[in-house]
Amino acid sequence: MSDTTYAPSATFAGNAHIDAAKYKDMYNASVTDNEGFWAEHGKRIDWIKPFTKVKDVNYGFGNVSINWYSDGTLNVAANCIDRHIASRANQTAIIWEPDSPDEASQHITYQELHDKTCQMSNVLKDLGVSKGDRVILYMPMIPEAAYAMLACARLGAIHSVVFGGFSPDALANRVNDCGAKVVITADEAPRGGRATPLKANADKAMTTCGDDVQLLVVRRTNGDVAWNDARDRDCTALMAAASTDCTPEEVNAEDPLFILYTSGSTGKPKGVVHTSGGYLVYASMTHELVFDYHDGDVYWCTADVGWVTGHSYIVYGPLANGGTTLMFEGVPTYPDASRFWQVCEKHKVNQFYTAPTAIRALMGQGPEFVENCDLSSLKLLGTVGEPINPEAWNWYNDVVGKGNCPIVDTWWQTETGGHLMTPLPGATATKPGSCTTPFFGIQPVILDAQSGQEIHDTEAEGVLCIKDSWPGQMRTVYGDHERFEQTYFSDYKGYYFTGDGCRRDADGYYWITGRVDDVINVSGHRMGTAEVESALVAHAKVAEAAVVGYPHDIKGQGIYAYVTLMSGEEPSEELRKELETWVRSEIGPIAKPDLIQWAPGLPKTRSGKIMRRILRKIAENDYGSLGDTSTLAEPAVVDDLIDNRMNR
Ligand code: WT7
Repeated sequence: MSDTTYAPSATFAGNAHIDAAKYKDMYNASVTDNEGFWAEHGKRIDWIKPFTKVKDVNYGFGNVSINWYSDGTLNVAANCIDRHIASRANQTAIIWEPDSPDEASQHITYQELHDKTCQMSNVLKDLGVSKGDRVILYMPMIPEAAYAMLACARLGAIHSVVFGGFSPDALANRVNDCGAKVVITADEAPRGGRATPLKANADKAMTTCGDDVQLLVVRRTNGDVAWNDARDRDCTALMAAASTDCTPEEVNAEDPLFILYTSGSTGKPKGVVHTSGGYLVYASMTHELVFDYHDGDVYWCTADVGWVTGHSYIVYGPLANGGTTLMFEGVPTYPDASRFWQVCEKHKVNQFYTAPTAIRALMGQGPEFVENCDLSSLKLLGTVGEPINPEAWNWYNDVVGKGNCPIVDTWWQTETGGHLMTPLPGATATKPGSCTTPFFGIQPVILDAQSGQEIHDTEAEGVLCIKDSWPGQMRTVYGDHERFEQTYFSDYKGYYFTGDGCRRDADGYYWITGRVDDVINVSGHRMGTAEVESALVAHAKVAEAAVVGYPHDIKGQGIYAYVTLMSGEEPSEELRKELETWVRSEIGPIAKPDLIQWAPGLPKTRSGKIMRRILRKIAENDYGSLGDTSTLAEPAVVDDLIDNRMNR
C-alpha cells in the first residue's frame, strides 16, 4: 500500500472531458437523482423507439429483477457501425495487428466493418440464425471475431465468446448449456509463434454436442483441418459470396446481447447475461470518460475478446463511440518483450489498457525493451483484472508513461459490464494500488462480513457491496435465475455482493484486497477452485483434492493443489506431470496447477468439511498463524502437510 498521490496535470485536466469540479457535481447528481441522470445519458446511443421508462429495479431476495430503458428499442450493431457511416465511412474502426510482426497489419474502415459484418450476418441468417438464437464464438483475435459479435447483434442473436485457450470439454459444456445453434471457429489461432488447433478442438467438442449444431470455420492460417461435410461450413468463402446489406433487427433494450461464462465459488461456470440498451449506454460512456477518449485517438486494450474486457473495451464501447480500436492477436513477449511497445510506436497508440500480470512480466525483462521504442503518442495508461502492486504501478508510470500519463486502475467484473470504481484521469488524484473512487451512479458500501452491517466510518474494511443498480449490470444467470439471486443477493440482503474484500482509507479511496470467496485470480483470469478440484478428482488415480491460491510474483496468484491419491497409488514426478496435463485438457492451460503437494490426508472438521483456511495458510508459508485448529478431526494431518509443503 502506498499513500503517495499523483494529481492530474493542469494540461491533462484542461483538455479532459471531466475535471475535478465536474466529477463532483455529476457524481452528486447521479446519486441524488439517479433516474434523471440515466435518462439524460441514455440518449448517448441511438434508439429506434426511444425509452419512456428509465429504471425498474428490485434487489429484494426472491424477487430480484433489473430493467433499464425497458420500453426502448434499438440495434446494437447499428449503434456501433451504421450511425457512424455518414461522418466516418473512411475512418479506421479497427486496427488489426497480427501475431507475427512480419505479417501485414490491417486498417478496417467503418464502411468495411459495415460490409463485413453484414456479410457475416447473412451467412448466419442462411444457417437459420435469428433473434434470440445462441451462437458460440471460439476464435483467434482476428477481425472476424468482432464481425461475428456484431453480426449476432445485428440479427438480435445472442453470442457467447469462449476464450480460445479453453479445452474442448469446456467448449462443449458452454455449447450445451446455452443450446447454441452455431459455433464459429477458425482453422488455427496463432499466438506467440505457435498455433492453437481451434478447429480440431471444436471437432472434439462437437462429439458431445447435438447433431444439429453447425460449425462455421474462418480460414486464418489455411492450415489443414479435418472436414465434416454435413456439419462444417467455410465461413471465409461464404462471406465472400454474401451480400453486404443486412437490415438490423429491432430489439428491446432488455433483450440479451451476450452470455459470458465465468467462474464462481461453487459448481460449473455460470452464464452471465448482459442485455442490449443499458449495457451499451454504460460501456460507451465509461469508455469515453475513463479513458478520456477523444475523436481521432487510437485506443488499445490488450485483452482477449474471450473476456468481458474485450467485449466492453475492444468492441462495444469504442465502436459505439465511433473510435479507432486496436485488436492484437499475439502476446506481450513475442517475438520479444518489446512487442507491446513496438505496437504502440507503430500505430501511435494514445490510450493503452492492460493487466498487472503483463506489466509485472515485462517489468522483469528490464527497461531497455521499453526505452528502445518511441512512446511519445501515449496520453493515458490503464490497468484491470487484479490489484496492482505499487512497484508495478510505479514502473508503469515512470518507465512506460515517463511520468506524463495518468494511470486509471479500473475495478470491475464480468457481472458489472463496465468500470464501477476507477479514477477519471482529468479529475482524480491517483494512489498506486487504489482503484480510487466510484464512477457516476455507483454507490459502493463496505459491510462487516459477519454482521452484514454497513460500516459508515470513512475508514473501513470489510466486504464490498453495491447499493442500487447501474445500466450495465448483468440481469441473470442464463437458465438459472435462482442461482443469480443466490450468488449475488442472498448473503447481504438488499445489496449487490461483489465477492471482493475492500478497504476504504481516510480520503474515501477504495483498495480492493482480493476475493473473499473460493475464487482465485490467476494472471487476471478468474478461476473457481472448485472447478480445478473437480477436474483433479475426475482422474482415476485421485481420491480427493483441495485447491487454493498462493501469492505468485508474476501471476498475482498461483494455483496450489493438495492431492490425495487412491490407495495403492504412489506419488511420482510422472504422475505429477500426468495430473498437470489432465487439468489442462479438462479445463485449459490457464487452470494448470503451479504446485501439486501429495497429501496423505486433508485437514477436515469432525463433520468432514475441508478446512481451506488452513490449506491457504500452508500454501502461503504462513503456518505460524494457523488459527483455531481445535475442530480438526485429525490434527496430525496438518503437521504432515507443513513438513512436506512445496517450495515456491
Ligand atoms: C474480479 C473480476 C473486469 C475485467 C477483468 C476481470 C478482480 C478486477 C481489478 C482491479 C483489483 C480487480 C476483482 C474482481 N479485479 N479488476 N482494478 N483491482 N481487483 O473480470 O474475471 O470478472 O474478475 O477481478 O477481484 O472481483 P473478472
